[in-house]
Amino acid sequence: MAPPADAGRFSRPLGGSVPPSAPHRTPDGQIYWDPEVLRSELDQFFYRNWLCVGREEDLAETGDYVTRTVGRESVLLVRDPTGAIRGFYNLCRHRGTRVVLEDGGKGARSFICPYHAWSYDVTGRLIGAPHMRGQEDFDRKEYGLHPIRVDTWGGFVWVNLEPAGPSLKESLGPFFTRFDRFPLAGLRLGGRNVYEVEANWKIIVENFSECYHCAPVHPSLNRLTPYLSGDNDASFRQNGGRSLFSGGFMEFAQDFQSMTRSGYTTRPLLSGMTPEDRKRVYYYVLFPNTFFSLHPDYLMIHHGWPVSPSHTRVENEFYFTPEAIAAPGFDPSDAIGLWDEINRQDWAVCELAQQGMGSRAWSGGRYSDQEELVRDFDEFVLSEYTRSRPAPGTSLDP
Ligand code: FES
Ligand SMILES: [Fe+2]
Repeated sequence: MAPPADAGRFSRPLGGSVPPSAPHRTPDGQIYWDPEVLRSELDQFFYRNWLCVGREEDLAETGDYVTRTVGRESVLLVRDPTGAIRGFYNLCRHRGTRVVLEDGGKGARSFICPYHAWSYDVTGRLIGAPHMRGQEDFDRKEYGLHPIRVDTWGGFVWVNLEPAGPSLKESLGPFFTRFDRFPLAGLRLGGRNVYEVEANWKIIVENFSECYHCAPVHPSLNRLTPYLSGDNDASFRQNGGRSLFSGGFMEFAQDFQSMTRSGYTTRPLLSGMTPEDRKRVYYYVLFPNTFFSLHPDYLMIHHGWPVSPSHTRVENEFYFTPEAIAAPGFDPSDAIGLWDEINRQDWAVCELAQQGMGSRAWSGGRYSDQEELVRDFDEFVLSEYTRSRPAPGTSLDP
């Protein structure tokens, strides 16, 4: 969808000149439509924070690899012979060509650039470069794939395109400690949906951060977990700053057991579930773009990948215990089908909000008392626009 014809009214220059909105007012439309804002967000949020990009099970054996698109970047992840997962920018050191074109594969020994056939091993070393022998100032050792930082938690693989900075644990440790008691690393993918949503990635985060809309938009969800149930996790403000996650939980009405079409489940619950946990669904946003939703019998993950200011690709994955998957007649559609319905309801209202926020009449609205986490997210985003950060590192090689 093209920006509105009068998008020029959003022509305030960025970088130090976007003022934080008043605490009770939602942002105006510029940050949802302006390509320069998205460019700045990719640089400041997506390329400088830890991003959850996959599962260790996707990289089970040496040479197994996946590629992921993050904004303008393509990232290559591969299991090396020592068992470590390595990450690289997916571009050739000769003339910058994309090296690996497929989404993933098994047992690679090397990656060969499709242009002039420079080749790299699974540790990123340049191992073949035709007609380069004896070229001035050329040392093969200096032309390996550019590495990126990789870490894991809970069976998930995370990358950070910033060469230095806080570790994954320093960034999200307080979130991890809330869920370390569950056997998340052992869960296995039971289903996946991908959605192309005509809305800015922040609208999708904002939408996930409140259930004010749940009664009018999600009757099935509201029946199982009434929108006023549960509580917010007050942890998002720590040491005067904002943590990189926010969320809380909702509680099942009556004797409902899980987010399924019936509200009940015959699947075994995740070990580690206390009686309190069994009455709850935990919902967290891991800044900038992952949603973590833990149900008594499954884990749901959303990733929102910005494609343009008004387009986000949302990946929605469902992880179950190996026992549940191995059980005769395993059928996750009771959960996945319900969430597909809820997702589509969400995307519809997100798209309507995106459209309205492009109007010349839109100059921001008001938060209700149900939108504390939305306000916190918006304030955090706006404050990050004006925070000066060091230029991206130029020393990418170890
Ligand atoms: S660009 Fe890769 S070999 Fe030339
Ligand atoms: Fe929703």
